[in-house]
Amino acid sequence: MLVSGGAGFIGSHFVKRLQRSGDDVVVLDKLTYSGNRANLPADVEFHHGDIAEPADVARAAAGCDAVVNFAAETHVDRSILAAEDFGRTEFRGTQVLLEHLRTSGIRLVQVSTDEVYGDLEAGGSAKETDALNPSSPYSAAKAAGELLVPAYVRTFGVNASITRGSNTYGPNQYPEKFIPLFVTNALDGQSLPLYGDGRQVRDWLYVEDHCAGIELVLREGAAGEAYNVGAGHEEEHENIEVAQRILELTGADASLLRRVADRPGHDRRYSLDTSKLRALGWSPETGFDDGLRATVDWYRDNRAWWEPIKSGEFREYYERQYGERLSTSLPA
Ligand code: NAD
Ligand code: TYD
Repeated sequence: MLVSGGAGFIGSHFVKRLQRSGDDVVVLDKLTYSGNRANLPADVEFHHGDIAEPADVARAAAGCDAVVNFAAETHVDRSILAAEDFGRTEFRGTQVLLEHLRTSGIRLVQVSTDEVYGDLEAGGSAKETDALNPSSPYSAAKAAGELLVPAYVRTFGVNASITRGSNTYGPNQYPEKFIPLFVTNALDGQSLPLYGDGRQVRDWLYVEDHCAGIELVLREGAAGEAYNVGAGHEEEHENIEVAQRILELTGADASLLRRVADRPGHDRRYSLDTSKLRALGWSPETGFDDGLRATVDWYRDNRAWWEPIKSGEFREYYERQYGERLSTSLPA
């Protein structure tokens, strides 16, 4: 099995999951700022390369039966600061993988996101047949990439499926995303920058549950089909509620929570109808309370993993993203 983007957060958990299932795993990863070789077992076959480069894909995929594509630029806020790399990896990279399928005949699972459906503020949950209506440069690039999949299935008969996962959290997540940023800041006594009114809603999925859903689609999903992977209504929480639970779990002072200028174009709510994947036998096993506690414990016990990250390139990004925002922040 080839896992592209396997050195990142979800991909590295997926690699370990496949190894536990007895699969031979090969990883192709560009090692961008969020890719980390240390996320992977030392014995995994690793190719340093780019999914948008056909020669890199051909080299890594030689002898593989399937590719699961996690490789992407993944942070909405960074896509607002600079979007170019998102188009290249999400669209061009997915196209290179699909072109490889045409000659090799191997299977592809394209890992996409619930953000392709856009804002569901009005209520309800997105079904796989709903129109894609992305709002950010990140989600538009993800939608562009995944739209190639049914087109290649129909036109060239390749064997490819799509997963659309909801907001994922757990160990090894790069600390720019909401949960690991707030947890590590709280552990360090730093401010927690809550965007806008903090009433935005996300469906929080534990990383192992997300990986189990992708594995099921890899083994049993139909070509040309998309599958939602989300934790469901009981795990839809407002950001402010999640922030308060993080304060409780870390024992940090409530005054750290700051209301800052909102993200431009910020989606209010995501929600998924997951009945299609549940009909194949999948359901999430880790509730938000347990998953968040395990995640906080992991970051508390693994400072050696995240402290070097937060002292590197991350600092420059943090200053650009939050410097002005925090200087004009209000108590939340
Ligand atoms: P991540 O940023 O932790 O990992 C991305 C990985 O892709 C990194 O290892 C990076 O080095 C690699 N990469 C980037 N560009 C590449 C390229 N051109 N060629 C090869 N490798 C490249 O992200 P993540 O949170 O693990 O997300 C993985 C996938 O899951 C992404 O496709 C993302 O859109 C999707 N997803 C994420 C979430 C979430 O909440 N994190 C939810 C739904 C879907
Ligand atoms: P994020 O983890 O970036 O995921 P996404 O935007 O892809 O859903 O953000 C999750 C939610 O948390 C989203 O509503 C934005 C909000 N948020 C903050 O309030 N402050 C922050 O510093 C970050 C990174 C996110």
